Amino acid sequence: MKVAVFSTKPYDKNALGHYDNDEVDLTFLEVPMTVASAHYAQGFQAVSAFVNDDLSEPVLSQLKGYGIELVTLRCAGFNNVDLAAAKKLGIKVTRVPAYSPYAVAEHTIGMMLALSRKIYKAYNRVREGNFSLNGLLGFDFYGKTVGIIGAGKIGLLVAKRLQAFGCRVLVYDPYLCESCAAEGFEQVPLDELYAQAHIISMHCPLTPETTRMINNESIAKMRQGVMIINTGRGALIDTKALISGLKTRHIGYVGLDVYEEEGPLFFEDHSDDIIQDDHFERLLTFPNVLVTGHQAYFTHEALEHIAETTIENLMAFKYQRPLTNEVPFK
Ligand code: NAI
Repeated sequence: MKVAVFSTKPYDKNALGHYDNDEVDLTFLEVPMTVASAHYAQGFQAVSAFVNDDLSEPVLSQLKGYGIELVTLRCAGFNNVDLAAAKKLGIKVTRVPAYSPYAVAEHTIGMMLALSRKIYKAYNRVREGNFSLNGLLGFDFYGKTVGIIGAGKIGLLVAKRLQAFGCRVLVYDPYLCESCAAEGFEQVPLDELYAQAHIISMHCPLTPETTRMINNESIAKMRQGVMIINTGRGALIDTKALISGLKTRHIGYVGLDVYEEEGPLFFEDHSDDIIQDDHFERLLTFPNVLVTGHQAYFTHEALEHIAETTIENLMAFKYQRPLTNEVPFK
């Protein structure tokens, strides 16, 4: 089966390259999937795509025209796919449901600690021979209340790790969290979480209900000086509202691994470019904002798992076995 693998970087090629054989003939393309690049899929039976690839209706229609019947995502989130269009066109969509929830949870904790103890500032100061502690005052996690939005695989791992620090853990999830009570996490209404948490961490999927759930209204319900961490999806947060909250100091700390408009920026070197996104650039001017470029998942273990599962998904499709990782269409 001939597969066009879009948005590949050297590290993807390394991980997936081991599996490139007669059964699954992989062609690595650096270009992202867009309306303009979808024509590269001509002559292939399946395509593989990543988080910021465009799989909207016009792209899927083009793919269908080239005979593509499978889109296999190398990520867990599928908010970039028009599932209704895929269904209508008869294109199957599979994903990697969990590659390393540990990787994302650990990065999340890393961001929290880096912000609270200002490690990113200390790193630069000490390298310049400046050992002054002025401006580096942190706070203990012990005894603080954290709010986890989305009690899934990643959210619960973050919750466990924060519990080990001595935090009180509140979770919000529209579905009953069966393990929460036994673990000592309190499942609460969203407004209660907003009102009580010193640290709020986003781990729900991006859906129409969760899009921009962190906005002016929800920020107004939060504690003064709250820390907001987002390693979920950028559009969970209304960036303009975040900037306003930072300017008034209502928000004390922000850690983002994902950004609403990350598509044109992330995963590429723009160090010689003039970045045109003024909201993104404004965010970077705050001394209490830490941004990483969608790297929470990026560990050896996760890349191996992504490669293995992607190949399993392709083989299942090729041999018409049940697609256990098919994206559910609701
Ligand atoms: P999961 O599916 O195990 O958990 C998601 C949880 O969110 C579920 O418990 C679900 O009930 C809950 N949820 C659904 N709607 C909600 C709502 N309206 N409000 C609050 N909770 C809601 O997913 P997992 O593996 O924990 O991943 C979570 C998200 O993390 C993914 O959807 C993805 O967007 C993001 N992610 C980010 C990565 C990164 O590198 N930054 C890597 C992997 C995932």
